[in-house]
Amino acid sequence: MDKAFEIKGLTFTYPTAKETTIKGVSFAVKKGTIFGLLGPSGAGKSTTQKILAKLLWDYQGEIRFFGRDLRTFGKEFYERVGVGFEMPVHFNRLTARENLSYFAGLYKTKADYEALLTRVGLKNDANRPVGEYSKGMKVRLNFVRALLNDPEFLFLDEPTNGLDPSNAKILKDMILEMKAAGKTIFITTHLMGDVEQLCDEVAFMTKGSISEVSSPRELKLRYGKKEVIVESIADAGERKTVFPLEGIGHNDAFLDVLKNDRVVTIHSGETTMEDIFIKVTGEAKYE
Ligand SMILES: Nc1ncnc2c1ncn2[C@@H]1O[C@H](COP(=O)(O)OP(=O)(O)OP(=O)(O)O)[C@@H](O)[C@H]1O
Ligand SMILES: [Mg+2]
Repeated sequence: MDKAFEIKGLTFTYPTAKETTIKGVSFAVKKGTIFGLLGPSGAGKSTTQKILAKLLWDYQGEIRFFGRDLRTFGKEFYERVGVGFEMPVHFNRLTARENLSYFAGLYKTKADYEALLTRVGLKNDANRPVGEYSKGMKVRLNFVRALLNDPEFLFLDEPTNGLDPSNAKILKDMILEMKAAGKTIFITTHLMGDVEQLCDEVAFMTKGSISEVSSPRELKLRYGKKEVIVESIADAGERKTVFPLEGIGHNDAFLDVLKNDRVVTIHSGETTMEDIFIKVTGEAKYE
């Protein structure tokens, strides 16, 4: 599969920082996939995104965008990528529509932003000054702005942060549709629900290093507890029994429960992405 990004030995230090911010990370983002960069606050996720989006220049290492050295790209790079920033910055005195019209003017290719406004539920507020927008409305406007040039590669820094579940779902559906249309999406997040629903591959970043690149499914299988938990009602009352998944078909005790109890629920003991996040990054859960 083609690589949209190939990163080797990426190292970066903010001029004012005492410590190296990004410490020699290597990974690839496959074309047509959704790649999640995860990690605790301050790990370097947004910094990595800014480097890949050519907003920070002074890095060491090699970055290739569709096979070509990122440093050799000029303005044309921004015709191909969309960038959703962590902290949305809009012109607050202008309306949403005026903001989008202004930013769309910077691109040769223009998406239908009226349709996008409708999709994210901002159509009726499009003529209000953005200064009057709620946080979630600004986040949705920021998302539309990242799509203004119908980009083939999309950077999204915590795209659903601050959204209610319905609006978050709309954005996630749109992200999955973009992937289905062959686009590549790079997401930084610490929302594990988003990761499970969206990401084909994830990299865990801790203190500027990447410890693990894998699919959410592989991670769950590797870190999963591999148990089967049965809740059932037996003669003596309700009970919860746990069996090893290995050899479950020949486990007489398990088969007994299935035959003799009234089974209420059966779960396989899958570890959640939250558990994996904590194990891999060694950090307490936050959010
Ligand atoms: N402009 C800057 N100048 C100096 N240091 C910075 C700057 N921006 C970020 N940093 C530092 O670089 C490190 C990584 O920050 P970054 O914003 O990339 O983290 P993050 O993983 O995106 O965190 P969060 O989950 O909180 O968004 C932090 O220690 C931060 O203090
Ligand atoms: Mg960040």
